[in-house]
Amino acid sequence: MESYIQFFALKDNPFRITPDLDFFFMSSVHQEALGSLEFLMESEEGFAVIIGEPGTGKTITIRKFISQLPENVEYAYILFPNLSPEEMFRAILEDFGIDIDDSATKNKLFSTLKEFLIKKRKEGKKILIIIDEAQNLPIETLEELRILSNLETDKEKLLQIILLGQPELEKKLNSDALRQLKQRITVIARLSNLTKDEMVNYINYRLAKAGNSTIKISNSAYKEIFKYTQGNLRQINQIMERALMSAFVKNSHQIDREDIKEAAESLGISKMKRKKSFYLILPAILFFLLVAFSLSGYYFFSKDIQQEKKPEKNLKEVYVIPNRLNVRAFPDKSSEIVYVLKKGDKVEVVNDKEGWYKIRYKNITGWVKKEYTGYRNE
Ligand SMILES: Nc1ncnc2c1ncn2[C@@H]1O[C@H](COP(=O)(O)OP(=O)(O)O)[C@@H](O)[C@H]1O
Ligand SMILES: [Mg+2]
Repeated sequence: MESYIQFFALKDNPFRITPDLDFFFMSSVHQEALGSLEFLMESEEGFAVIIGEPGTGKTITIRKFISQLPENVEYAYILFPNLSPEEMFRAILEDFGIDIDDSATKNKLFSTLKEFLIKKRKEGKKILIIIDEAQNLPIETLEELRILSNLETDKEKLLQIILLGQPELEKKLNSDALRQLKQRITVIARLSNLTKDEMVNYINYRLAKAGNSTIKISNSAYKEIFKYTQGNLRQINQIMERALMSAFVKNSHQIDREDIKEAAESLGISKMKRKKSFYLILPAILFFLLVAFSLSGYYFFSKDIQQEKKPEKNLKEVYVIPNRLNVRAFPDKSSEIVYVLKKGDKVEVVNDKEGWYKIRYKNITGWVKKEYTGYRNE
C-alpha cells in the first residue's frame, strides 16, 4: 500500500515529533537560547537555565547544542530527574560510565564524582552536566547540585551545569531555600511559541527538508493551525502529520482548513479558550482600556515633570559579567546601542523591567539584560 510519504513525494516524515536535528529550525528564541549556552561555556562556571512550556523545543535545542560541543567537553545528560541527591549522583556517575557499588553512601558517591572531575580536569577536559525536565528535581537535590558546582581546583571550577525545565522550575529557583543557587546562575533563556510568520516558515522548512514538492497549504489552513497551536512546535508537528494523512486519504495534495480542524479535533487539541471568551469580555476590556488610557496620559504627563526635578533613585549596584555588554536605549534587543560596558564595570540600577535593568554609569543611562550582570565582581 502506498504511504502518504510516497503520495506526497517525500523522502522522510517531515513532522516526526522526535527531536531530530536534521529538522532543527533556528527561530530567534532558539538562537538566543543557544547563544546563552555558549556564553555559559565561555564563562567557565555556574549554571545556565532554559525555561519553556512543554513542546517549545527545550530538548531539541540542547541536542543541537550538544552536537556542536568541542571535543574536550564531556557531558552527562539526565532525564526524568525526580531524583534524591544520592540517586542523582548515581545517575551522573552512571552516565559518565563509572561503576559504583550499590551500597555506596551519599558521601562516597560525592567523593567518587569529585575524583572523577579532578582527573578529567587534569586531562584537559571540561565537564558539563545537563538535566532535562529539571522542574522535577527536589529542592534538596538542586541544593546538592549547587554544592557540586562549587568544587574547584586552583580557583578553577570543575564543572558547569545546564538545567532545562518548565516554568515551575523558575518558580522553584526563586524560592528562598535556593537563594544561593540563584546567585550562581550565569544565564537564563526562555523559549516560547513561534509567531504566526515563524510558524509558516517552520512548516515550509520541515517540508522542504523532507524533500517535498507537491504539498500546497492554503492560507486559511495556516490561520487555523495557529489558532489551535498558538505556535507551539510540538502541536504544530502533531497537527501537520495528521493533516497530511487526512489529505492523503482524500487523494488531495492540498491541505485546507477542514483538514486542520479534523486533525486537531482527532488529537484532542482545542483552540485556546482565551480566544473564545475574549469576545464575551470584549466590552469590559474596551471600557478598561478607555479608563486606563485617560489615566495614563495624566500619569505620564505628571511623571515627566517629576523626572525633570528628581533623578531616578539608585536601587542597587551590579557588576558586568561578560567582556563586553551593550547598553541599549530601550529595554529591547533591537534598540540603539548607546554605550558598551566592560567586564567588571560597576553600574547603578535605577529601574527594573522584565529581564532588563535600566542602569546609570558615569553620566550614561540605558538598558542592559539582567542576566549579564551579577552582584559580585567575578
Ligand atoms: N527549533 C526547532 N526546530 C525543529 N523542530 C522543533 C524545534 N523546536 C521544537 N521542535 C519540534 O517540536 C518537538 C517538541 O520539542 P521538544 O524539544 O521535545 O520540546 P520540549 O523539550 O520543550 O518539550 C520536537 O520533537 C521537534 O519535533
Ligand atoms: Mg523535553
